[in-house]
Amino acid sequence: MNLYDRNQKQRDFFNEKIDTYDQVHETFMGTKKMIAENLDEDTNKVLDLGAGTGLELIHLFEIYPNASVTVIDISEKMLNELSKRNFADRVTTICGDFFEINFGNNYDAVISTSALHHFKPEEKIILYKKVFDCLKNNGLFVNCDKISLSQEEQNRSIYELENNIDNYKHIDTPLTVENEMSILGQVGFNDISSSEVEKSNYRLIKARKKK
Ligand SMILES: C[S@@+](CC[C@H](N)C(=O)[O-])C[C@H]1O[C@@H](n2cnc3c(N)ncnc32)[C@H](O)[C@@H]1O
Repeated sequence: MNLYDRNQKQRDFFNEKIDTYDQVHETFMGTKKMIAENLDEDTNKVLDLGAGTGLELIHLFEIYPNASVTVIDISEKMLNELSKRNFADRVTTICGDFFEINFGNNYDAVISTSALHHFKPEEKIILYKKVFDCLKNNGLFVNCDKISLSQEEQNRSIYELENNIDNYKHIDTPLTVENEMSILGQVGFNDISSSEVEKSNYRLIKARKKK
């Protein structure tokens, strides 16, 4: 299945999960809170990739009440839930696929959590180049996401994805931290760091655009 079709499957998956999504994800709010805690003090213009119902934005708006946030998400049902939050008037939502939508430019920060672990390394290069290009000089990318704990684990999940004959199963394909950081370096980021979070198979990765 090609990337476009896989992403449409993600859309169906998250649309179908809408009734239980917040209940499940509230169990690891710590990983979402960490996003805002790692931004620069003067952050204002933010792009959130895959914000879903907006759980990470609850804390972001507590710390940055005047932030202006753009969200790109492929699931209209997730975005509909976000639109009910009390900060929705400060959020511009764009419903579409990361690989199809223009990200815009001049962001202080691009953030993401639990949303980018479905892509192969060659796809991540394309995605992270878009992230790099849409940031201001000195802008920050903060991503707290699922990772593979070994190269074998990464290889196994990508093999499973590529051999998912009936295309039925939802398969996560997280990369290792080393591969994530290497790709960020390849597209031009500097000051790339990773830290452990409350979930053992998650990491918070930060990278800065410096020209
Ligand atoms: C697990 S949810 C995370 C939502 C939120 N960031 C959180 O942590 O609660 C992943 C989100 O990414 C979105 N997503 C997945 N693949 C996408 C793609 N290719 N383009 C845009 N959004 C995508 C899904 O629709 C979903 O809302």
